[in-house]
Amino acid sequence: MMPGQPIFILKEGSKRESGKNAMQNNINAAKAIADAVKTTLGPRGMDKMLVDSLGDIVITNDGVTILKEMDIDHPAAKMMVEVSKTQDQEVGDGTTTAAVLAGELLRKAEDLLNQNVHPTVIASGYRMAAEKAKEILNGISIPINNDPNLLLKIANTALNSKSASTSKSKLGDIAVKAVLQVKQERDGKVIVDMDDIQLVKKQGGAIDDTQLIHGIIVDKERVHPGMPTFVNNAKIALLNFALEIKKPEFDTSIRIEDPQSIGKFKKQEENILKEMVEKIKASGANVVLTQKGIDDLAMHFLAKEGIYAARRVKKSDMDKLAKAIGGNIITNLDDLTSEDLGYADRVEEIKIGEDHLTFVTGCKNPKAVSILIRGGTEHVVDEIERSIVDSLHVVAAALEDGKIVPGGGAAATEIALKLKDYSATVGGREQLAIEKFAEAMEIIPRTLSENAGLDAIGILISLKKEHTDGKKNYGVNVFTGKPADMVEMGVIEPIRVGRQAINSATDAAVMILRIDDVIATKSSGGGAPKGPSGSQSPPSGED
Ligand SMILES: Nc1ncnc2c1ncn2[C@@H]1O[C@H](COP(=O)(O)OP(=O)(O)OP(=O)(O)O)[C@@H](O)[C@H]1O
Ligand SMILES: [Mg+2]
Repeated sequence: MMPGQPIFILKEGSKRESGKNAMQNNINAAKAIADAVKTTLGPRGMDKMLVDSLGDIVITNDGVTILKEMDIDHPAAKMMVEVSKTQDQEVGDGTTTAAVLAGELLRKAEDLLNQNVHPTVIASGYRMAAEKAKEILNGISIPINNDPNLLLKIANTALNSKSASTSKSKLGDIAVKAVLQVKQERDGKVIVDMDDIQLVKKQGGAIDDTQLIHGIIVDKERVHPGMPTFVNNAKIALLNFALEIKKPEFDTSIRIEDPQSIGKFKKQEENILKEMVEKIKASGANVVLTQKGIDDLAMHFLAKEGIYAARRVKKSDMDKLAKAIGGNIITNLDDLTSEDLGYADRVEEIKIGEDHLTFVTGCKNPKAVSILIRGGTEHVVDEIERSIVDSLHVVAAALEDGKIVPGGGAAATEIALKLKDYSATVGGREQLAIEKFAEAMEIIPRTLSENAGLDAIGILISLKKEHTDGKKNYGVNVFTGKPADMVEMGVIEPIRVGRQAINSATDAAVMILRIDDVIATKSSGGGAPKGPSGSQSPPSGED
């Protein structure tokens, strides 16, 4: 080979970026993502309207929803989306906080990179800081029991920042009651399984019409007007087969020569269906819910027997029902016995808006609860659902962990101050990174104030003063613009929200900082040198 001849190791069209350039681009992309969601943080944050390629609209304040809906291309930006997703899976709330914090950690790291601090030093400093931050958070946490009033405050804090906040007392109350209903204790530990809470959305009515149902809602009506509209002491058969005559799978033809035989043939069909209904009746069932279809004639016979029946029930609803009413899902009618039936105090068809739904209430298992979500438009209902999910999660997390911390930037301010003290004890180059981590924590009270149109710098100064004076619970009162005791104001969060935000933000920041080479093959959408979609402004420095 001739000396000096270039060697190609990558496919033609691949893009590669390395060293400072790669790092800078990644940091810029991550910051752009953080900036995109920043304006939604807190009770006075704004919502975003997202329109996808098909023109479908989502209006939301939820960090993770915004990031998921944005069609993000840049690989580092995608990692930021993961931060939010992790937060969502682990806690269900604080997804904006996590992304904003990750962005700020990278912004602060940039300062250090410019002072020639090596990325691995920043990374290890950040890791140390994160550990300490969690320790500090734990130090200011307040133990709680399952006092519904306190839980309501936790739910309301999560709802404060959503458009649903006007109905927060109603929605918060529903969330608390639902979680308390399904919580279980295992080995002295409280466990809340979110799958036990069914969410059913029905457009129409007002947000305040949202209600908690002690039972399961099946989005199906009874199949025949002759059936009763309600059944008390319901013995429910859950079927996974059609109450129809099986059609042969291959092409068949039957020759019938005389009119009498037609009659007989029809009669035969009728008898088969009648027999099916009789078998159901014999089991003692007075309600039938099937995943499959029901023949018109079978409907007629069921109605005649006074049995309430609904068809084409979703598989997920069938599973929920089985658990709630303590019944078995039967796949063959011959297997049906009285022992397979589930029990509920009442099965009733109720009209909600334009639709008729089947409410199964007073179930054998009292842990079955549903929330029927109402709201003026589809977009409202969707956002209410997201808000309820957030509030359910925070209440569950608070119960499971038994610890809360003050919100409104109070915890973040305390961490910022204490971390500064800690950094002095560490020394070395890591000290610089820990200081920067501490500064990054201030982004939470700062953004809450900025979004409320307040003088963020002034508030930060007075907040720090209060904390130095030992007032650990002081955060931003975004309505008066003054520092205030967040616990007294009822702005409290489960410790898990803050702990996970620190974890996922640090993980993402460290991971992005350690990358010094981006190699993108041609086919991948994310070209390294491309900016993140959604960021119009060129990378900016300190804001
Ligand atoms: N009344 C209040 N006064 C001050 N701060 C508040 C108040 N209510 C809530 N907050 C704060 O608002 C922040 C939460 O805002 P928001 O719900 O928009 O973001 P998030 O929880 O991080 O993300 P998301 O809810 O989108 O997953 C928390 O820091 C919380 O303490
Ligand atoms: Mg929130």
